[in-house]
Amino acid sequence: MSIVPATAATIADAAALLSAGKLVAFPTETVYGLGGDAADDNAVAAIFAAKGRPTFNPLIVHGPGLSSFETSVVIDDRARLLASLFWPGPLTMVLPRHAKSTVSLLASAGLDSIAVRVPSHPVALALLRATSVLVAGPSANPSGRISPTTAQHVADGLADRVAMILDGGPCAVGVESTVIDLCGRRPTLLRPGGITLEALRDALGSVDIAGPVQPDGPRSPGMLSSHYAPALPVRLNARDAKPGEALLAFGPHDGAALNLSPSADLAEAAANLFAMLRALDDARYQAIAVAPIPESGLGLAINDRLRRAAAPRPSGKTLLP
Ligand code: TXA
Ligand code: MG
Repeated sequence: MSIVPATAATIADAAALLSAGKLVAFPTETVYGLGGDAADDNAVAAIFAAKGRPTFNPLIVHGPGLSSFETSVVIDDRARLLASLFWPGPLTMVLPRHAKSTVSLLASAGLDSIAVRVPSHPVALALLRATSVLVAGPSANPSGRISPTTAQHVADGLADRVAMILDGGPCAVGVESTVIDLCGRRPTLLRPGGITLEALRDALGSVDIAGPVQPDGPRSPGMLSSHYAPALPVRLNARDAKPGEALLAFGPHDGAALNLSPSADLAEAAANLFAMLRALDDARYQAIAVAPIPESGLGLAINDRLRRAAAPRPSGKTLLP
């Protein structure tokens, strides 16, 4: 493993590694991704192995523009509209698999749909343009743990399991892309993220929200309840810290260990969320208490991640790295 600053030369090296079937961690505007050639079963299998990710949880396929997906997925008018409004950017669309698609069936977990996204981070776009392959890219963290928003976070979690970590600085959005399912007649939000539900409803008229997670068959296989979890327990909607707790505040507060946004700005809070959860996740504390966050705009994505961070952990599975 090595962290390298993203330059034209290192991006070209990373593109060559991807074409050779290797894994490269790269920055996006949301979180760092763990990239591999989406058409290469071995590269995709290596992604699942590196993350310890269950293979029933499919990956997002990244490309440099809508046209790069033309023979991978079936693109309808709604998808074209959303692409024109939100791409490049933090939106993932789940679309029917195209008959000619060469995307690995492992990447899409054998589903008849594929999730596609065009990220806006200049390094991600440069890398996707420099390589001839589509790039399967989950967040570059061990499965179930906090997503990485810096190159160092990737190194901390995946160490020697990746050929190169391209450093493009901290991620500006800080929560993952919004995932919308366009396979059915009614657009359905599968995961709140960097593009708000309000913005999607403005564009499409109406958007359903996927129902609560079913233990034996989540609609989006990534909708497992415990996720984004620090090692310490997490308590939500906390006004103040109890003894032993670190308070992660939102809005003005005197007694906070850290503050997601002293001015109560949701975009700033999203950008700080994962790095601050990591910073508080250590032996100084027995638990992390998080202040209430408004359930609107980016607050939907922040609260979704916080609820999973606080969810009961799978029994018998230690969350210590
Ligand atoms: O912001 C992001 O989306 C980041 C960056 C790296 O692009 N990637 C990311 O990937 O968050 P990952 O693998 O951590 O999350 C992908 C989500 C999961 O919830 C997965 O279940 C869902 O997308 N997904 C992928 N393919 C799907 C499909 N065909 N149908 C339904 N859900 C799908
Ligand atoms: Mg993830």
